[in-house]
Amino acid sequence: MKGKNDVFTERLAVHYDELKWLYMELYDDETRFAELCEGLRGFFEDRKKSLKALDARREADPEWYRGSGLLGMMMYVGQFAGNLKGVAEHLDYVKSCGVNYLHLMPLMESPAGRSDGGYAVADFRKVQEELGTVEDLEALADRCREQGISLCLDFVMNHTSEDHEWARRARAGEKEYQDRYFFYDSWEIPMKFEKTVPQVFPTTAPGNFTWLPDVGKHVMTSFYPYQWDLNYANPVVFNEMVYNYLFLANMGIDVIRLDAVPYIWKELGTTCRNLPQVHTLVRMMRMIGEVVCPGTLLLGEVVMEPVKVAPYFGTVEKPECHMLYNVTTMATVWHTVATQDVRLLKKQLDTVYSLPREYTFLNYLRCHDDIGWGLDYDTLAEWGMQQIPHKQFLNDFFTGRLEDSFSRGELYNNDPITRDARFCGTTASMCGVEKAGFCGDAHGMERAIRLDVMLHAFMLFQAGIPVIYSGDEVGQVNDYTYRDDPEKRLDSRYIHRGAFQWNLVKNIEKEGTVQERLFKSLRKLETLRAEHEAFETHAKAETCESGDNGVLFLKRTGKTETLIGIFNFSREWKETVWTEDGTDLMTGEKIGGDGKVCMRPYDFVWGLLGPDSCGAGTVREA
Ligand code: GLC
Repeated sequence: MKGKNDVFTERLAVHYDELKWLYMELYDDETRFAELCEGLRGFFEDRKKSLKALDARREADPEWYRGSGLLGMMMYVGQFAGNLKGVAEHLDYVKSCGVNYLHLMPLMESPAGRSDGGYAVADFRKVQEELGTVEDLEALADRCREQGISLCLDFVMNHTSEDHEWARRARAGEKEYQDRYFFYDSWEIPMKFEKTVPQVFPTTAPGNFTWLPDVGKHVMTSFYPYQWDLNYANPVVFNEMVYNYLFLANMGIDVIRLDAVPYIWKELGTTCRNLPQVHTLVRMMRMIGEVVCPGTLLLGEVVMEPVKVAPYFGTVEKPECHMLYNVTTMATVWHTVATQDVRLLKKQLDTVYSLPREYTFLNYLRCHDDIGWGLDYDTLAEWGMQQIPHKQFLNDFFTGRLEDSFSRGELYNNDPITRDARFCGTTASMCGVEKAGFCGDAHGMERAIRLDVMLHAFMLFQAGIPVIYSGDEVGQVNDYTYRDDPEKRLDSRYIHRGAFQWNLVKNIEKEGTVQERLFKSLRKLETLRAEHEAFETHAKAETCESGDNGVLFLKRTGKTETLIGIFNFSREWKETVWTEDGTDLMTGEKIGGDGKVCMRPYDFVWGLLGPDSCGAGTVREA
């Protein structure tokens, strides 16, 4: 029998040389490295039996998260069920949605009014009082594990709240704690940074520094002024934050979302984004995870252009994050809805599909943040669309200012000088459910539901983990009450973070309601997805020519089957001339042969073909 520390020693031995090399390269500090290794051993020893058993199972099956059976949902605990105990009590609803991956939005202690939706953490080991306790969190994690639900939590590592103990001690003048942040006596160095560092929140929190009159110093604050950037050039910061990460892992959290990870290393004269040291830090965290809690995954929040995103997977020999958000695809989908032109989406998917298949993406239509229009503007320029006017068109379309627009929502960080803005709204509101409901427009509602379902069908057609924003499954629309809340009113992201409308759930069983139609269609798609191996990451995914700029044509070739996905992004009827025999998975009817597939605006087809089919089709306007 192996002794209780042998597993740790063996795992550490696998990574020791590389870990030490990288640590010394950054910090050149043997003592701190030895201290880190001791710390890791402590967390390993504290890790409970059930989690170690899970580690062993997942080590034996490292592909466990790459199938097509995982379905995610993200939610604010308070908005969904009041507190952690409430979430535990409502797990039956979560399960009825088919969800087996649950992302709970930040829930660690965060000061009211200065919380950035929980992303300003004052204590990494204490749950927000109104949501419960760490014991409740651990109990919920246990319960989820028993029920086969993986739990994801944010690890807000770029900054702490100004109320965090380190920040308070720094503010009180303790040099040791000031060294954990970026403190400057004069404006000289901050000004140099400002020359090269872009701003995250240009209108709500301009500048990357905040003047602290009581201390007589400037402190770096890349996000809100109450979020102080941590200085990872200080090894104490790295060690301590690693312990905070392992604390979450030992609570039973399966997926750790590395919040704002591209920002964690700062260097004068650079943009302070995606610097090589960031990759060193993430690589070290990956190795540390593999030593202490290999059942835990790292999900990187990298909201950047595609070339900056993929490097966060690391390499096959030296992996970094297990999963990343498919952010550009998400933004490009909405661009496609507004323009009815699938060319950019096709190009974006070609890029994604050319990446190694072991790269696992998290796919989503909406999350808790705004949609930034981070599109491939070089390509759009070739087609006559310039960045600023195009962003303005998208924002006009989605705020409902254009005549043919059905979407409702609000701008975020609208910069009157650069005329740049991002967008906020729920999926249903963006698809037209809100407007059609308000106007009593039955035809508009039909179309809105079809668009909503089609976009989910598109998302679910991709490999990786699809994640639904809680409320989207029942078509929840925008919540304008945030405007009356002085703590929220300046941050329009709260428009799509409303309290979950439990009354909508009752309609799921009422035939013909928006909720019944959406919920049941989504369930059907999700079930089909879980049943077909060609949705898994190992399948070959490709885009095909549809012959029509309004229609996207995708194909997935698995080991035993070929699937096609045809998505009509236009507001017109289309007719697909389909030459291969196949079955429409949603209806079970035959498609193809000599027949034609007639598609209404926003219709889609998920088709199953024979193993050798090339599945070429052409589309024309009906
Ligand atoms: C991430 C979060 C966002 C937050 C920011 C700062 O981007 O998704 O909500 O404002 O980090 O922590």
